[in-house]
Amino acid sequence: MCGIVGYIGSKNAYPILIKGLQRLEYRGYDSSGVALYQHDKINVFKKKGKVSELENFCTEEETYTNVGIAHTRWATHGEPNDINAHPHQSMNGTFTIIHNGIIENYEKLKNDLAAKGFTFYGQTDSEVLANLIEYMYNEGEHVNAELAVRMALSRVVGAYGLVVMCKNEPEQLIAARKSSPLAIGIGDGEYYLASDATPMIEYTKSVVYLNDKDVAIITKNSFTLKTVDNDAAITPEVQQLELSVGELEKNGYDHFMLKEIFEQPKTITDTLRGRIDPATKEVFLGGLTEVMPRILDAQRVVIIACGTSWHAALIGEYLIEEYAQIPVEVEYASEYRYRKPIIRENDVVIAISQSGETADTLAAIGLAKEKGALVLGICNVVGSSVARETHAGIYTHAGVEIGVASTKAFTAQVTVLTLIALHLARKHQTINNERYFSIIDDLMCIPGKVESILLKHLAIKTIAEKYSEASNALYLGRGYLFPVALEGALKLKEISYIHAEGYAAGEMKHGPIALIDSNLPVVVVAAKDRYYEKVVSNIQEVKARKGNIIAVITEGDNALRNMVADIMEIPACDEVVTPLLAVIPLQLFAYYVALARGCDVDQPRNLAKSVTVE
Ligand code: AGP
Repeated sequence: MCGIVGYIGSKNAYPILIKGLQRLEYRGYDSSGVALYQHDKINVFKKKGKVSELENFCTEEETYTNVGIAHTRWATHGEPNDINAHPHQSMNGTFTIIHNGIIENYEKLKNDLAAKGFTFYGQTDSEVLANLIEYMYNEGEHVNAELAVRMALSRVVGAYGLVVMCKNEPEQLIAARKSSPLAIGIGDGEYYLASDATPMIEYTKSVVYLNDKDVAIITKNSFTLKTVDNDAAITPEVQQLELSVGELEKNGYDHFMLKEIFEQPKTITDTLRGRIDPATKEVFLGGLTEVMPRILDAQRVVIIACGTSWHAALIGEYLIEEYAQIPVEVEYASEYRYRKPIIRENDVVIAISQSGETADTLAAIGLAKEKGALVLGICNVVGSSVARETHAGIYTHAGVEIGVASTKAFTAQVTVLTLIALHLARKHQTINNERYFSIIDDLMCIPGKVESILLKHLAIKTIAEKYSEASNALYLGRGYLFPVALEGALKLKEISYIHAEGYAAGEMKHGPIALIDSNLPVVVVAAKDRYYEKVVSNIQEVKARKGNIIAVITEGDNALRNMVADIMEIPACDEVVTPLLAVIPLQLFAYYVALARGCDVDQPRNLAKSVTVE
């Protein structure tokens, strides 16, 4: 979603801001803009469309400055156009702001301000905030910019990642955060600001992640941290970034999504690293050690997530119930946070999130904590809000995921959930040695087997091209492969805009079978597992209605090979770890369909990488 970049120091800020915006393009956006402090004025340039359009727009302008802010907007209030793009300025131009998040009470604030004579040029909640700050600034006698920002924020209901420039105090940036991430990079006589670390990685490794309600006052030589409600300075916690610039490049791949699909042998290895004792093959989960007694006492596990992470959660449910024999419920975070769920103190709630910044997931975490549950996080982005808001957790170590369609994060999440289920099963003695060691052995072979599927990518490309004109698709799977069918369908719809539905194969007769005709591609995840015979029957039912079947099959399954129109093969493995293999051809299939349709694979329309608003 929206992205923030800021710079104050001695360098030319403009190229830093533009490059920073390009680094944030992966988050999804529809317009962008910069505000530059030049010759005692704050000049704003903004444009609907890609950052390249903003750059073209600024070609003839003078852009040199040492202080500037920049933004990519993903529209919430008001359509995407030049006017609603950020930065926004207050009525008299005293304040210029960039804002991520939503001001929920903006309408009331806007009416109050209008009654006091304020006028507005656009439809955004952010412009209202700029004017509220200006109103506070002009109201009191000794109100400086910092105090005006803090006073305004104390009247605001909602979420903000905010950077403010004041034309009367121009060599200073004021930044604030509530439920929308903001990081400050510390350089030598300079500071960088950004909504995630990617824009600053080539300049500094030292960062401070703002906490909720923190307000930072930054000049090129000083950084003071306060809170919205308190004037006393607090000590910032400086962290070292582990990210490298190389991780942010495509490294020869045409798209980040393709690169990330191909990274999976490595990322799954990284997720497993240090978590299975090579000698005893016991699972070790350092992040959970301290809270393990509480986890082992749990009467119930509730997993909350959104999108792809929710699909991983479903696999986690099957694994934990089958092997650790603890009841599990999987919830969409967006439903859970509002539906007055029963949460007991001996519940363990696991929040799964790649970005660690998904607004719904964070709200659900807050609710579960409030009710006294132990809340664990499975997340990818180190230092993210989910990592900080949960009592304990496990990082997936999949590395930066830039493609909006999640791929390597999914396999990393499923790997972590498999480790958790096996660890709990071992502790509860609900799994026998033979079964435990056999699953562990197969899990450790997964990276090599993923590699072998990736080698066949061109065969998958050919199949994808054959179906790229389809308007609809149905994905079917059973058991551990049902969530894989859901994930395959999500991948296809996200990046190719083909309407795709994932279904439990056994449910087909209860409705979706009506859709089947010779125009409908039906992707069946039909690896050899305990449901195999039943899935074959479902395939027969589709065939009888002339549906075109593309099946994900286990290598050597000649019976299915001869029964269906197209096959994508995966190596044999234990059914419990099959999702980690079966999803790979579906990721590639979606990628190549989108490519054939000429879609913007890494930045699909309307989508954002990290959904930081409701
Ligand atoms: C996946 O391809 C999606 N873009 C999306 O569904 C995503 O998984 C969802 O928004 C959750 O994100 P999170 O894992 O960062 O919380």
